[in-house]
Amino acid sequence: MANLVASVLLWLAFISYACTLPVIAKQWHPRKSTMTTRFYDFKVQTMRITKLCESKDIITINKMFPGPVVYAQEDDRVIVNVTNETPHNITIHWHGVRQRLSCWYDGPAYITQCPIQGGQSFTYEFSLGQQKGTLFWHAHTSWLRATVYGAIVVHPKTGVPYPFKYPNEEHIVILGEHWVRDVVPMEKEVLASGGGPPPADAFLINGHPGPNYNCSTNDVYKIHVIHGKTYLLRIINAALNMEHFFAIANHKLTIVEADAEYTKPFTVDRLMIAPGQTMNVLVTADQSNGRYSMAMGAYMSARNITFQSIPAIAYFQYTNAAVNSFTKSAKLPSFKDDLAVKTVMDGLRSLNPVAVPLEIDKNLFFTIGLNVQKCKSHQPSKNCKATHGGVLAASMNNISFVMPNISLLHAYYNKINGYFSEDFPGVPLNSYDYVNGAPNNIPNDTQSLIGTRAKVLDYGSRVQLILQDTGTVSTENHPIHLHGYSFYVVGYGSGNYNPQTVKLNLVDPPYMNTVGVPVGGWAAIRFVADNPGVWFMHCHLEIHTSWGLSMAFIVKNGKGEMETLPHPPNDAPKC
Ligand code: C2O
Repeated sequence: MANLVASVLLWLAFISYACTLPVIAKQWHPRKSTMTTRFYDFKVQTMRITKLCESKDIITINKMFPGPVVYAQEDDRVIVNVTNETPHNITIHWHGVRQRLSCWYDGPAYITQCPIQGGQSFTYEFSLGQQKGTLFWHAHTSWLRATVYGAIVVHPKTGVPYPFKYPNEEHIVILGEHWVRDVVPMEKEVLASGGGPPPADAFLINGHPGPNYNCSTNDVYKIHVIHGKTYLLRIINAALNMEHFFAIANHKLTIVEADAEYTKPFTVDRLMIAPGQTMNVLVTADQSNGRYSMAMGAYMSARNITFQSIPAIAYFQYTNAAVNSFTKSAKLPSFKDDLAVKTVMDGLRSLNPVAVPLEIDKNLFFTIGLNVQKCKSHQPSKNCKATHGGVLAASMNNISFVMPNISLLHAYYNKINGYFSEDFPGVPLNSYDYVNGAPNNIPNDTQSLIGTRAKVLDYGSRVQLILQDTGTVSTENHPIHLHGYSFYVVGYGSGNYNPQTVKLNLVDPPYMNTVGVPVGGWAAIRFVADNPGVWFMHCHLEIHTSWGLSMAFIVKNGKGEMETLPHPPNDAPKC
């Protein structure tokens, strides 16, 4: 009882403290009085789990897997105190949170902050101005994201309805990948080998693989449903290295939101969701009572890659289905069904007409893809496992990004020279047949340059960026994620981008933070660079980021307080 009183008092004290916090982002708080501050305590802790009959220690938040859900309402302020009780360096990224004027709290290690070391803590503070829907948080250091992730659910403001029929219930469906081995040494070994990563031992739905894997019969997630009711599934792909199809046997999925922005309702039998993407779908339990599988299977668009081909299964189970009723299995597309991917993409439209920038100040063109570097190791059989005895790499505009060992944002803000250069090219250094050729003089030379290069954007510039997949090693669908912004996906297509023939959607394109650039194709995105700071852009397939498929934008300050990045937090971790 005493405890309860104490915690209520503490909470009240906290709320009154929170209400005195300076409101940085004044322009989004027309009804300031409705703003609430949500406080969360994240303890980074090790936990022993058993999956596929094998036990291992994983890194978690608060010994939960998947991690705790961050609930909030549009325009709320969120404060999360992260304390690292493990020996591993860690940071947390709030994926899709636009972090307006709060770049310091974005979270990617060595981009906006130094990692939180064992025994240290750091408090993240940001606002959810004009944001609502499903997002997620995850670790942003090495491959810790494999187990350190959880949902962010942002409800509309009180009294503001969804633009669709109210579901009877809401469920989070968070997709992941599981390795029996420890992921941290695994990443080091993969990078040292020069070759590709081992496939996951299982896929997971809300932390459970379902019955299809070795020794997993009873490790199944279930959603209990009642005939005639409608359910909102908040689907999040938190997987590390694979893109996925998702389907429910005999049930249709109506997509109503993508990357926390409403879309025109669009009904599909299955969808493709890439790591970094979130989708809200409505499902009506309109079938006969029974048990239906919800399946998550591989979408693999690249050639010659070994991957996990067994789908994870959860149950969509009617409450009065017989206990041991036969499970109707979901039909997933074949793992290389590029058309199924296109069908979903074609249906994604913003619910209402949107304010796409029509005039462009900055036209950018970035190639994205893999490379094979010459191997310089003295033990090639150990370190040069890519084709022709090379080392795998990945790049944007044929430059493989090298992580600095200090925070880029701090280096930029404090004008510390020597850690990065501002010469990331706006277009490829060589132009060639991107989909079918190779960047260098010799046709089979697929090497990239290496460096920590950033592209500088003036405050407020209206940017169009073409992301062009390359076939240098193999064409592949790459989920490209931009921090600090959502962008309009105004076009996409297959082959090389051709400005002469392209047709763009400038009326109702989807507003996303991660776009799956079509295999052997391109995507065109537009955004206004009105959020100062250093913003990472990378492939959300973690191995590709490890190989350098990333770059950073530096967005300069504009004029006045509302266009200027505030000072860094006092408790920012040191490298
Ligand atoms: Cu979800 Cu930079 O990541």
